[in-house]
Amino acid sequence: MTTAAVARAARVLRADGLVAFPTETVYGLGADASSDTALARLYAVKQRPPDHPVIVHLGDPDRLDDWGRDLSDDARLLAVSFWPGPLTLVVRRNDQMVSDVVTGGRDTVGLRVPDQPLALDLLREFGGGIAAPSANRFGRVSPTTAAHVRADLGNDVDAILDGGSCSVGVESTIVDCSGSHVRLLRRGGVPVDRIAAILGRPVDEAADGEGPAAPGRLAAHYQPRARVVVVGHSDHAIVEAQRHLDGGARTGLLAPGPLPPDLPSGLEIVGAPPNTDEYARSLYACLRDADTRGLDVLVVVPPAAQGVGAAVEDRLRRAAAS
Ligand code: TXA
Ligand code: MG
Repeated sequence: MTTAAVARAARVLRADGLVAFPTETVYGLGADASSDTALARLYAVKQRPPDHPVIVHLGDPDRLDDWGRDLSDDARLLAVSFWPGPLTLVVRRNDQMVSDVVTGGRDTVGLRVPDQPLALDLLREFGGGIAAPSANRFGRVSPTTAAHVRADLGNDVDAILDGGSCSVGVESTIVDCSGSHVRLLRRGGVPVDRIAAILGRPVDEAADGEGPAAPGRLAAHYQPRARVVVVGHSDHAIVEAQRHLDGGARTGLLAPGPLPPDLPSGLEIVGAPPNTDEYARSLYACLRDADTRGLDVLVVVPPAAQGVGAAVEDRLRRAAAS
């Protein structure tokens, strides 16, 4: 169903404007993927270096053939299996459809069909592809609510569709299907073992620093202002937190709940998510909350690395990198 807000947002896109919209992973900052004028504005607002490619969002899995070329059987299989959903496929681009501005000059394009009703309404009403990075300034924490987008981008965005909190909470998994075998470029909403199960073989992981630099692959990314210190276990977290508190630092804790009973006095509880899915959903809001509280240090215990926990662990490692 097309609401007035979706119809208006589609008009904004057609006029080369920028629309922030919810996806199941994080909010995207959308522009008409076939308009170089709109894309130039997108890069300017995002403060993103021109050689960093953006993902093109499509309203229907069938559109894969319009935007990609020489598609492998693996790419088709993954699209059929996971779209709509939090998986981005990097494939060889159809030069007629995809401009150098979207791909940072690469021969490939990242494509995905998001699993979020408002996003799909917008994509179908607009009709074309929507280029959308996460709707935060370059290098900052991704937004998972419309309020986060407003706080980051203010008047630089022409319309914001409010779909509430994102249901997954971390970005899409990215796999490169442009070569002879599928490679993992970024952990995310779809666990790698589910991809391997569909393909019937293990998926190689590209090492950090391998290939062209891309924001999701930079060691230091997804960073709040507070210093993030990752520790393996709640017992260590208490020792670590006490050390920072003793040094006079305002210190917070994010750890899987329930938390142990004897926490140091003065330690601020930023989050104690009861399970891994909830940890992923609340992760970026917690990192933002650490800054809102004016914390100097956030001590973090990651969730178990199964399922979406592996992506959470990856983002926390990058948030902690100096
Ligand atoms: O969940 C998501 O993927 C969100 C929502 C809005 O869809 N989008 C997102 O976009 O996280 P962004 O721009 O923050 O991260 C996109 C990542 C970057 O690391 C970029 O380099 C990579 O995708 N990427 C896009 N196209 C690529 C390509 N052709 N080759 C390699 N990496 C690509
Ligand atoms: Mg991003």
